Amino acid sequence: MSALSTVPMVDASEPADAAALIAEINRLRRERNAVILAHSYQIPVIQDLADFVGDSLGLSRQAATTDADVIVFCGVHFMAETAAILSPDKTVLLPDLDAGCSLAASITAEQLRAWKAEHPGAVVVSYVNTTAEVKAESDYCCTSANAVEIVESIPPDREILFLPDLFLGEWVRRATGRDNIHVWLGECHVHAGIVAEDVERARAAHPDAELLVHPECACGSRCLLDLQAGRLDARRTHVLSTEGMVRHAAASDAEAFLVATETGVLHRLRLQAPGKRFYPVREAAVCNYMKMITLEKVYRSLRDMVYPVIVAPEIAERARVAIDRMIAVGR
Ligand code: 13P
Ligand code: SF4
Repeated sequence: MSALSTVPMVDASEPADAAALIAEINRLRRERNAVILAHSYQIPVIQDLADFVGDSLGLSRQAATTDADVIVFCGVHFMAETAAILSPDKTVLLPDLDAGCSLAASITAEQLRAWKAEHPGAVVVSYVNTTAEVKAESDYCCTSANAVEIVESIPPDREILFLPDLFLGEWVRRATGRDNIHVWLGECHVHAGIVAEDVERARAAHPDAELLVHPECACGSRCLLDLQAGRLDARRTHVLSTEGMVRHAAASDAEAFLVATETGVLHRLRLQAPGKRFYPVREAAVCNYMKMITLEKVYRSLRDMVYPVIVAPEIAERARVAIDRMIAVGR
């Protein structure tokens, strides 16, 4: 039975407007010694409320080091699971258990075991967008921020199974120049929808803008090809994680940027680089899972301590080895 059906919904007798909800959330987070972590794809009001906003790598690091008793994870299920693995003595809450991830759903632990059996001795590198069970079958975890560094740290003669994102895998293969990487054919429905034609349209509309591309995007491999062929200007085209985009935009001399990733990051970019202009490469690149977290649900989460995300200790123990290797690498 879904835990959702066991908890009363926020009713009319409870704070309804945003300001009252935020006041209640603030009261409850103090009372429970809770920290609110939010991914950069969350809706603006949740990002503004959070104690920390960041990418998968930054959020994992926060989860590993916080001294709060409760972590309210405003993101998707695999992120809350990662936090629960890193902080087993804390209560990790996901305000909506249906906040999943199409990419994480693209490979199961059983499928990975079968793939490993076909490649005995291969090193398994899993993107953090995977279930805890898949991480437990992996040697390394990585995020988009450190995938290349992690793969480069593996001896060149070792075969690698990289999963689950085919576009990120292809980008890592090209960036490292390794030809012994086997890539799982999974994808994120949001980033797979950002294609080369979107980039062309956006560049034609804003020719002065720099291009920032998340490596999960379908357009990423074409960008790399164009870069290598000199059709794109390497000084004005950057393949980056969401946090890499924020850092780059703040430091760059450019005034305008085309952003190829989920559009939630635009709020963060505009806050961190005020006065600069940001245009989504694809307006419709919206993750329905990330947008499931609302003020009402965060309030309910803190009020009723729902929904705890718990990872079985035998899975957590094995997954932790791969996750620890991930958080040790990169900025
Ligand atoms: P990063 O936060 O690692 O950039 O990943 C983006 C993503 O799609 C998370 O779901
Ligand atoms: Fe998963 Fe894609 Fe949503 Fe990120 S944007 S949480 S990869 S479905």
